[in-house]
Amino acid sequence: MKVSIIGSGYVGLTTGACFAENGHQVTCVDNDPAKIASLLAGRIPIYEPGLEQIVERNVKSGRLRFTTSTEEGVDHGDIVFIAVPTPPQPDGSVDLSFIEKVAREIAAVLKDYRVIVDKSTVPVKTGEKVADTVRRYAKEGVEFDIVSNPEFLREGCAVDDLMNPDRIVIGASSDRALGYMQELYEPFSAPVLVTDINSAELIKHAANSFLALKISYINAIASICERSGADVDKVAEGIGSDKRIGPHFLNAGIGYGGSCFPKDVAAFIAISEQLGVPFNLLKEVEVINRRQLDRFVDLIREKLWVLQEKKIALWGLTFKPDTDDTRESVAIKLAEKLIAENAEVTAYDPKGMANARLHPVGDKLGYADSALAATEGAEALVIATDWPEFAAVDFEVVKSKMATPLIFDGRNLLNPETMRKIGFSYNGIGRGSSA
Ligand code: UDX
Repeated sequence: MKVSIIGSGYVGLTTGACFAENGHQVTCVDNDPAKIASLLAGRIPIYEPGLEQIVERNVKSGRLRFTTSTEEGVDHGDIVFIAVPTPPQPDGSVDLSFIEKVAREIAAVLKDYRVIVDKSTVPVKTGEKVADTVRRYAKEGVEFDIVSNPEFLREGCAVDDLMNPDRIVIGASSDRALGYMQELYEPFSAPVLVTDINSAELIKHAANSFLALKISYINAIASICERSGADVDKVAEGIGSDKRIGPHFLNAGIGYGGSCFPKDVAAFIAISEQLGVPFNLLKEVEVINRRQLDRFVDLIREKLWVLQEKKIALWGLTFKPDTDDTRESVAIKLAEKLIAENAEVTAYDPKGMANARLHPVGDKLGYADSALAATEGAEALVIATDWPEFAAVDFEVVKSKMATPLIFDGRNLLNPETMRKIGFSYNGIGRGSSA
């Protein structure tokens, strides 16, 4: 099929590349000429495992093209995706100005029937507004349908999430549009859930908020474990082995971050308030998430007493492993808090150091070439992101490098017993009896 994607950012580019990989003819559009020039030169502006090879292969085969022209995109695709940013506003509600602008731009060049699909994460009822806008700005009589097809990509495994999704959600208002969408997803062999547009839009916010809730739930349990001497890892295993609960997203830590969860939870709170049914449970999810980091800093302060001039090795700057993304990263927030108390922080992250430098705290940190090098002379090692390579470091060597063998494991990455045997004083999250 012929597909176009308006917006070649993280979601648009990955989605477009995977459609091409499945045999479709894809045109990715972006209004940033520098981004398109870079893509045409074979340079991928983001780090996402496997993406570069897929882009290269499909550009070579002619199935994947890039352009700055919306008209070219709309002329090419029977299906035209909107995948532009929907950033948060100061009150948590979603800024829909990019969506509205693209809806007008598509309308201005619409000549024949097109299925216009919203891929961006948007509040429920946005599809209705996009339909009104396209109708208002398009030539009279031109036919189109609006579809909502939310993405559920995790950074770091987006290609796999796209190629082998748990489910595909299609919110369509006509059988004609649904037919196009079913043909598009035919090669993916994943369960397809067909809904109305409003339900599809709501599924995205409800899913991400539920996952954030699950993380805050286990983090609240972790606090209770610390006070009671129980072990959150065991509690998570015990509750997660109930099929109705499931084992995933029950890793206690210093909280969730990234470009999706904080924004989507805030948006869902704002949406529910606008609809007159305040979702106060989600406000508590946010409170618990903030408290996790504060409690962790309290713990560091409790052990180190005064943070001023303390040499701290910080492992991890990205919001999670396997990405270079530091947006809304709890690790960056932690670095800010340590620096605010005049600690001397030397950081290491396998992929995130370049992005970390762009944050205001970035030039106040020292940077090491390796996890091991960061611990040279350190009075404490703080783990903020659970990169697997951190667990594989030789901790005998770490201990020999550190001034005082103290570990604060914000992601419960290490085995407390092993660390204690080596001679570390180990502090995890909610590992009451073993930490
Ligand atoms: C998320 C959703 O998973 C995805 O479906 C959606 O489309 C976009 O948002 P992503 O932002 O890439 O994906 O990150 P995810 O892997 O979900 O992790 C989010 C945050 O939660 C990270 O900061 C991670 O460290 C934290 N987390 C995750 C925990 O603290 N504990 C867990 O058990 C799981």
